[in-house]
Amino acid sequence: LNYCVPRTRKEIFETLVKGLQRLEYRGYDSAGIAVDGDKNTMTDDINNNIVLIKKKGKVKALNEELYKKDCMDLEAELDTHFGMAHTRWATHGEPSALNSHPHRSDKNNEFVVIHNGIITNYKELKKYLNSKGYEFESETDTEVIPKLIKYVYDNREREDLSFSTLVERVIQQLEGAFALMFKSRYFPGEAVATRRGSPLLIGVRSKDELPTEHIPIQYNTVAMFKEGVKEKNSHNRSDNSTAVNSVGDSKAVEYYFASDASAIIEHTNKVIYLEDDDIAAVVGGKLSLHRLNRLAGEDPVRAIQTLQMELQEIMKGNFEAFMQKEIFEQPESVFNTMRGRICFDTNKVILGGLKDHLKEIKRCRRLIMIGCGTSFHAAVATRQILEELTELPVMVELASDFLDRNTPVFRDDVCFYISQSGETADTLMALRYCKEKGALTVGITNTVGSSISRDTDCGVHINAGPEIGVASTKAYTSQFAALIMFGLMMSEDRISLQARRLEIINGLRILPELIKKVLTLDKKIKSIADELYEQKSLLVMGRGFNYATCLEGALKIKEITYMHSEGILAGELKHGPLALIDKHMPVIMIMMRDACYTKCQNALQQVTARSGRPIILCCQDDPEVSKNAYKTIELPQTVDCLQGILSVIPLQLLSFHLAVLRGYDVDCPRNLAKSVTVE
Ligand code: G6P
Repeated sequence: LNYCVPRTRKEIFETLVKGLQRLEYRGYDSAGIAVDGDKNTMTDDINNNIVLIKKKGKVKALNEELYKKDCMDLEAELDTHFGMAHTRWATHGEPSALNSHPHRSDKNNEFVVIHNGIITNYKELKKYLNSKGYEFESETDTEVIPKLIKYVYDNREREDLSFSTLVERVIQQLEGAFALMFKSRYFPGEAVATRRGSPLLIGVRSKDELPTEHIPIQYNTVAMFKEGVKEKNSHNRSDNSTAVNSVGDSKAVEYYFASDASAIIEHTNKVIYLEDDDIAAVVGGKLSLHRLNRLAGEDPVRAIQTLQMELQEIMKGNFEAFMQKEIFEQPESVFNTMRGRICFDTNKVILGGLKDHLKEIKRCRRLIMIGCGTSFHAAVATRQILEELTELPVMVELASDFLDRNTPVFRDDVCFYISQSGETADTLMALRYCKEKGALTVGITNTVGSSISRDTDCGVHINAGPEIGVASTKAYTSQFAALIMFGLMMSEDRISLQARRLEIINGLRILPELIKKVLTLDKKIKSIADELYEQKSLLVMGRGFNYATCLEGALKIKEITYMHSEGILAGELKHGPLALIDKHMPVIMIMMRDACYTKCQNALQQVTARSGRPIILCCQDDPEVSKNAYKTIELPQTVDCLQGILSVIPLQLLSFHLAVLRGYDVDCPRNLAKSVTVE
């Protein structure tokens, strides 16, 4: 929204489209935009008209469509204007222009809405609105929202209901999760945004970059501007924050509403993260915040944070795909996870976001680690070493299954929520569930200001930098390293564990260098991909510390190459998977020099005895293995519990090359999204 900042329509299109492109990794089956039309295209007596342009496919397709509208004057300069855009990943209704956002209240586009999340009671609302004569044009859950706001507007008793009051009435009726933006012909130049369960932030850019004075706010709730207020969970907050509930004194100001900071970072790094049931409204260039039930007198003061994220961090650079860039970033991203947290002289590990809770964690009955997808695999990968270092029982749980089972959780449990995005709906619901049971909650996230980082009692920010590729890579290795550091912190005063701790700390010290060495295998891995890319299936087998690598490697392969791939625990080989082995079935085996080495050799013999031709990931110079392998990928050896950080990288690279060879879009795999904010 630009207020008293002249922008041509072309500039507005460009800003919106670029923002969408930065978010495309979150969903990309269709996209749409809403802007004010030219006055000469008015069709009725309302003073403003809104033009909706929607298109199935990627943002690029929408962009082309925008310039086909010859009724729109691209050079028209708009002094104050609010435009909005959305890229969709279908939950209800197939990908199509009609099902894409913005959705509208009626043919005149009186109210238009974009939505992230899911409205679980949409069927009831739709039925009610149908009975009132509203006709629906899409199959989405979202469409009930613009219809509902029009219904409230048309049935208002008082004439002077503000835009945000209308929105407030609407969201009182909604169940589920949402981040919403509203635009209306009746409120030109005004924007209303709100959220519950799905992320939403507001970037602010004024003439002087950021207003520093107190502004009286619209709703007489709390009219103040606090300097230097920090909120709970400072572990995941930028230190550089001030708190506001109203912004916008300067005559010229721009607001950028987005579900993710990467969409707006090139315009401003000053952002306000909205909390659930916050309603943000811009009227006359002023942004004000209030709570849904503001009569309850809740204080809507929110921090303005200065993000440190650089635009180049989210750019592809010379790489073919974000995923490839992120794989090659791992020497730095893993280093950044450790930076400032390990003292190699004293062998101390300090995770600032946990230190005040360490005593409580040490007294707990058990650790429960919860996540989805790759983040779950980070829990599997570190379970054994955490059991060893903490001497506590460690449960690893897929968030959805954990909830399905109504798993018993107790006050003296410590529950970890591992999530790159910090927004995954299942993980977030598991967090809420455990909070109700009184457990201590710990977030392991990569996204400052995310729901999980804010809603947990304490936590660790893994500092891997923005991850754009849908298939997670660098977040995994950083989660892995962060969890090991937690184990080291917990065991600091255990005399019997000091030798082991020292070994691991020394291993961590040189880990970034070893990752670099593994990355030099890229060419070799590409040549293996050349051989395998036409196969239908690929099995990945291992055990012990490297079992998680099998699961994660197989997940990478299926996510982006669409080949069938299974991670197999070698100990289970004879209980089923062996039936799959013949000379045609490609098998990758992981055989590192650790406690499971001999057992892995048994598995290898069973595979070769059935004419299998395994490609083996092993330690450098292992003649025993080379003898029986069809091919080897030799990795530097490190401490057993860290080996998984190295062994996963060849599989990340392999999946990347396979996907490219099979002609697929690596960063945008079909049917998948980066951040799954629906159940
Ligand atoms: C989606 C992504 C995966 C990710 C999983 C969990 O499925 O495609 O890459 O591992 O969500 O996401 P989180 O943000 O919670 O780590």
